[in-house]
Amino acid sequence: MNVPVLTIDGPSGAGKGTVSRAIAKKLGWNYLDSGSIYRSLAIATLDQNIDLHDEAAVVKVAQQMKLAFECNEELIVKLDDIDITSRLATEETGSAASQIAALPDVRGALMEKQRDFQKSPGLVADGRDMGTVVFPEAQYKVFLTADAATRAERRYKQLIEKGICANLPQITQEIELRDRRDSERSIAPLAMAEGALYIDSSSLSIATVINEILRIV
Ligand code: DC
Repeated sequence: MNVPVLTIDGPSGAGKGTVSRAIAKKLGWNYLDSGSIYRSLAIATLDQNIDLHDEAAVVKVAQQMKLAFECNEELIVKLDDIDITSRLATEETGSAASQIAALPDVRGALMEKQRDFQKSPGLVADGRDMGTVVFPEAQYKVFLTADAATRAERRYKQLIEKGICANLPQITQEIELRDRRDSERSIAPLAMAEGALYIDSSSLSIATVINEILRIV
């Protein structure tokens, strides 16, 4: 299949979502927010009172859940026909997503769901292992990061804007814990793909990051 793919990987709060959505819109390409797939599975698992470490049970939830994405101004996610968008961004969901994401069979069960997004005319895929594991053949690869304090502040502002209660020191701690878990896990850890364009967005505007990336596409 020759549908072009741009992968944007990086840690939590690096600005991947904002940048990826803007680029997808500009190019008229499809957009995969792979984190929201892990987050949706985390919600389904928590709602069914399943232990986040019970790999076989979580895989079963992954195989059975029905996910639908509607990309309007905001990304709307429906889990088994119920709109769960407002629950996706919470730290509880993010932390649970990071835990189930460390289970190898769970990652395997979500692989096809992610590859299905590769449709004409192109795909912008955002996550942790887009350029290394899910779309290793992607033509364009970016690793987008920022220092932990900047990422925590951005995440804090995002949550407050969404009307979700947040506390900066706690978010900083959670971001550091999540970074460690996502980078140190044995399967598909957060890593820069070979040949990826490295961007540290700590002191860059969103517009500058978008332009940097558009130059390679
Ligand atoms: O990007 P995010 O914060 O929405 O992702 C939530 C969690 O899901 C993240 O902590 C790790 C996991 N994840 C992953 O392991 N692989 C991906 N491609 C995307 C997310």
